Amino acid sequence: MARLRVMSLLGVGLAGGAVAATTGGNPVDQAQGPAITVYKTATCGCCGKWVDHMKKAGFAVRTVDTDDLTEIKHASGVPMRLRTCHTALIEGYVIEGHVPADLVERLLKEKPAGAGLAVAGMPMGSPGMEGVKKDAYEVLLFGKDGKTTVYAKR
Ligand code: CU
Ligand code: CU
Repeated sequence: MARLRVMSLLGVGLAGGAVAATTGGNPVDQAQGPAITVYKTATCGCCGKWVDHMKKAGFAVRTVDTDDLTEIKHASGVPMRLRTCHTALIEGYVIEGHVPADLVERLLKEKPAGAGLAVAGMPMGSPGMEGVKKDAYEVLLFGKDGKTTVYAKR
Protein backbone atom coordinates (compact mmCIF):
# COMPACT_ATOMS: atom_id res chain seq x y z
CA MET A 1 0.00 0.00 0.00
CA ALA A 2 2.63 2.52 1.12
CA ARG A 3 4.81 1.56 -1.80
CA LEU A 4 2.00 2.08 -4.26
CA ARG A 5 1.41 5.54 -2.88
CA VAL A 6 5.05 6.55 -3.26
CA MET A 7 5.04 5.32 -6.82
CA SER A 8 1.95 7.27 -7.77
CA LEU A 9 3.36 10.40 -6.17
CA LEU A 10 6.53 9.91 -8.17
CA GLY A 11 4.44 9.51 -11.31
CA VAL A 12 2.72 12.81 -10.71
CA GLY A 13 6.05 14.52 -10.10
CA LEU A 14 7.52 13.22 -13.32
CA ALA A 15 4.46 14.17 -15.36
CA GLY A 16 4.56 17.66 -13.89
CA GLY A 17 8.20 18.03 -14.81
CA ALA A 18 7.62 16.94 -18.36
CA VAL A 19 4.83 19.46 -18.79
CA ALA A 20 6.90 22.30 -17.36
CA ALA A 21 9.66 21.46 -19.83
CA THR A 22 7.37 21.50 -22.86
CA THR A 23 5.50 24.67 -21.96
CA GLY A 24 8.74 26.46 -21.10
CA GLY A 25 7.20 28.36 -18.21
CA ASN A 26 4.89 30.71 -20.05
CA PRO A 27 4.91 33.84 -17.84
CA VAL A 28 1.30 34.75 -18.67
CA ASP A 29 -0.11 31.37 -17.75
CA GLN A 30 0.71 29.69 -14.50
CA ALA A 31 -1.17 26.56 -15.52
CA GLN A 32 0.65 23.28 -15.00
CA GLY A 33 -1.50 21.20 -17.30
CA PRO A 34 -0.89 20.14 -20.90
CA ALA A 35 -0.35 22.89 -23.47
CA ILE A 36 -3.20 23.51 -25.88
CA THR A 37 -3.29 25.96 -28.78
CA VAL A 38 -6.70 27.42 -29.61
CA TYR A 39 -7.39 28.98 -33.01
CA LYS A 40 -10.34 31.35 -32.91
CA THR A 41 -11.60 34.67 -34.16
CA ALA A 42 -10.88 37.66 -31.93
CA THR A 43 -14.51 38.68 -31.64
CA CYS A 44 -15.98 35.29 -30.68
CA GLY A 45 -17.44 35.45 -27.17
CA CYS A 46 -18.17 31.76 -26.73
CA CYS A 47 -14.61 30.90 -27.83
CA GLY A 48 -13.27 33.13 -25.05
CA LYS A 49 -15.53 31.42 -22.56
CA TRP A 50 -14.34 27.98 -23.68
CA VAL A 51 -10.73 29.17 -23.27
CA ASP A 52 -11.60 30.21 -19.70
CA HIS A 53 -13.17 26.79 -19.11
CA MET A 54 -9.96 25.08 -20.26
CA LYS A 55 -7.76 27.37 -18.16
CA LYS A 56 -9.90 26.68 -15.11
CA ALA A 57 -9.37 22.96 -15.71
CA GLY A 58 -5.60 23.57 -15.60
CA PHE A 59 -4.66 23.54 -19.27
CA ALA A 60 -1.89 25.88 -20.40
CA VAL A 61 -3.83 27.67 -23.13
CA ARG A 62 -2.24 29.60 -25.98
CA THR A 63 -4.69 31.42 -28.21
CA VAL A 64 -4.19 32.39 -31.83
CA ASP A 65 -6.69 34.88 -33.24
CA THR A 66 -7.32 34.64 -36.96
CA ASP A 67 -9.98 35.94 -39.36
CA ASP A 68 -10.09 32.74 -41.36
CA LEU A 69 -10.18 29.38 -39.64
CA THR A 70 -10.74 27.42 -42.83
CA GLU A 71 -7.08 26.71 -43.34
CA ILE A 72 -6.41 25.30 -39.88
CA LYS A 73 -9.60 23.21 -39.98
CA HIS A 74 -8.66 21.86 -43.39
CA ALA A 75 -5.06 21.16 -42.36
CA SER A 76 -6.30 19.44 -39.21
CA GLY A 77 -8.74 17.27 -41.13
CA VAL A 78 -11.86 18.43 -39.33
CA PRO A 79 -14.83 17.00 -41.29
CA MET A 80 -16.98 19.71 -42.87
CA ARG A 81 -20.13 18.77 -40.94
CA LEU A 82 -18.37 19.02 -37.59
CA ARG A 83 -16.77 22.42 -38.12
CA THR A 84 -17.72 25.09 -35.63
CA CYS A 85 -16.37 28.21 -33.96
CA HIS A 86 -12.88 27.21 -32.79
CA THR A 87 -10.22 24.59 -33.39
CA ALA A 88 -7.62 23.55 -30.84
CA LEU A 89 -4.53 21.38 -31.10
CA ILE A 90 -3.15 19.33 -28.25
CA GLU A 91 -0.60 16.50 -28.24
CA GLY A 92 -1.35 15.47 -31.82
CA TYR A 93 -5.13 15.65 -31.43
CA VAL A 94 -7.63 18.18 -32.74
CA ILE A 95 -10.34 19.57 -30.47
CA GLU A 96 -13.19 21.12 -32.46
CA GLY A 97 -15.79 23.22 -30.71
CA HIS A 98 -17.15 23.21 -27.18
CA VAL A 99 -15.65 19.94 -25.93
CA PRO A 100 -15.68 19.59 -22.12
CA ALA A 101 -12.23 19.74 -20.49
CA ASP A 102 -12.65 16.44 -18.65
CA LEU A 103 -13.09 14.67 -21.98
CA VAL A 104 -9.90 16.25 -23.33
CA GLU A 105 -8.16 14.88 -20.25
CA ARG A 106 -9.70 11.46 -20.91
CA LEU A 107 -8.56 11.65 -24.54
CA LEU A 108 -4.97 12.34 -23.51
CA LYS A 109 -5.08 9.48 -21.04
CA GLU A 110 -6.72 6.91 -23.32
CA LYS A 111 -5.01 8.05 -26.54
CA PRO A 112 -7.56 6.39 -28.84
CA ALA A 113 -6.92 5.97 -32.56
CA GLY A 114 -8.41 8.97 -34.31
CA ALA A 115 -7.80 12.58 -35.20
CA GLY A 116 -9.66 14.28 -32.40
CA LEU A 117 -12.86 15.20 -30.60
CA ALA A 118 -15.65 17.44 -31.80
CA VAL A 119 -18.85 18.97 -30.53
CA ALA A 120 -20.71 20.23 -33.57
CA GLY A 121 -23.20 23.04 -33.64
CA MET A 122 -22.42 24.86 -30.39
CA PRO A 123 -25.11 23.24 -28.19
CA MET A 124 -26.53 25.30 -25.35
CA GLY A 125 -25.18 24.14 -22.01
CA SER A 126 -21.83 22.96 -23.33
CA PRO A 127 -18.73 24.60 -21.78
CA GLY A 128 -18.60 28.19 -23.00
CA MET A 129 -22.23 28.04 -24.10
CA GLU A 130 -23.84 28.25 -20.68
CA GLY A 131 -27.28 29.79 -20.52
CA VAL A 132 -30.80 29.14 -19.41
CA LYS A 133 -31.14 26.09 -21.64
CA LYS A 134 -29.21 22.85 -21.45
CA ASP A 135 -29.33 20.71 -24.56
CA ALA A 136 -28.20 17.11 -24.72
CA TYR A 137 -25.26 16.70 -27.09
CA GLU A 138 -22.74 14.17 -28.30
CA VAL A 139 -18.98 14.46 -28.19
CA LEU A 140 -17.65 12.68 -31.25
CA LEU A 141 -14.31 11.05 -31.84
CA PHE A 142 -13.49 11.59 -35.51
CA GLY A 143 -10.92 9.90 -37.65
CA LYS A 144 -8.76 11.19 -40.46
CA ASP A 145 -11.19 9.43 -42.81
CA GLY A 146 -14.05 11.56 -41.47
CA LYS A 147 -15.74 8.66 -39.71
CA THR A 148 -17.08 9.36 -36.23
CA THR A 149 -17.96 7.42 -33.12
CA VAL A 150 -19.68 8.73 -30.01
CA TYR A 151 -17.03 9.35 -27.37
CA ALA A 152 -19.42 10.70 -24.72
CA LYS A 153 -22.94 12.00 -24.29
CA ARG A 154 -23.66 15.07 -22.21
CU1 CU B 1 -18.68 28.66 -29.88
CU1 CU C 1 -15.47 28.86 -30.03
